[in-house]
Amino acid sequence: MLVLGIETSCDETSAALVVDGKEVLSNVIATQLDLLRQFGGVVPEIAARRHTELIGYVIKKALDSAGKTLDDVEAVAVTSKQGLIGCLLVGVAAAKSISYSRQLPLIGVHHIEGHIFANRLSNPRLPVPHICLTVSGGHTMLLYVQDSVRYELLGTTLDDAAGEAFDKIAKFLGLDFPGGPVIDKLSRQGNRKAFSFPRPMMRARTLDFSFSGLKTSVTNAFREKVARNEDLPLADIAASFQEAIVDVLVSKTIRAAEERGASAVSVTGGVTANKRLREAFQETCRRKGIEVFFPELSLCTDNAAMIATAGYARLKRGEISDLNLNVLPSAPLEV
Ligand code: KG4
Ligand code: ZN
Repeated sequence: MLVLGIETSCDETSAALVVDGKEVLSNVIATQLDLLRQFGGVVPEIAARRHTELIGYVIKKALDSAGKTLDDVEAVAVTSKQGLIGCLLVGVAAAKSISYSRQLPLIGVHHIEGHIFANRLSNPRLPVPHICLTVSGGHTMLLYVQDSVRYELLGTTLDDAAGEAFDKIAKFLGLDFPGGPVIDKLSRQGNRKAFSFPRPMMRARTLDFSFSGLKTSVTNAFREKVARNEDLPLADIAASFQEAIVDVLVSKTIRAAEERGASAVSVTGGVTANKRLREAFQETCRRKGIEVFFPELSLCTDNAAMIATAGYARLKRGEISDLNLNVLPSAPLEV
């Protein structure tokens, strides 16, 4: 079955064609990097307007590059839950018009479920149950994935998401936006032991996360250097900050796997593109005898192929939305 996926929950306008939730024929992603750089982050109203300008073009490009037309499409899946309300509305309105005019099933998808399915798309042999860490600009969530579409929330962030902490620290250090990839690259020239920043809640019994105290420690260390007129070792600060986040993410995920007796973990969402995070997971999982799975890089950040794949799984279970489908900016992931 050929599913058209549409994703506009934040700052990427994306459309994709995926066959049977497995084979990606196209996955077109238009980023709003120019706007992000201009405004130092996502401005919801401006992002929604850009989606409106791009959505038709992106859908057409997804069809053209796969050598398909709307006549070939058999279902439409769209992100309807979690994201910026104005942005979600653009994708949902587009999906509804295609579904109505072509009489195709419509499936509303939760954005986080999309990220979970990105890993399935890259790793068809990802087993269930497993522990899934979703780390993006908007979320840091630890989930117990019981079966294909049943999840138990084990922990979440109490303040900033991990990607948000990367973005805010990069901004504070005067680096480019989004901060995650910039800190990732800069850290490769730095010493990750140069500063001993705190690992918030790493030893706490709970599987929740918190990154605001870490951010404060980094900004304090930077300001102390400035006050003392000392050199500003940006690469060392970046590498030490990144290491603190990575340590917490890896240690809590492994603890969740051990507590639940899971033999596999999957890591998904934009921050999964981070090289050091992947390295640290691989090292620790090898030692602990746990298998670790990551999506390929093009499926880490927001994209519509993951939405088409999650939508196909829901459709197979008979879960179809109707034309009343509404957007839910902060809906929890259904369990
Ligand atoms: O999943 P995503 O595209 O959008 C959300 O759903 O939030 O994730 C974007 C986030 C941004 O915060 C960005 O800084 C972060 O993912 N990110 C990274 C890297 N690439 C993207 N963080 C750390 N290292 C990276 N290489
Ligand atoms: Zn995302």
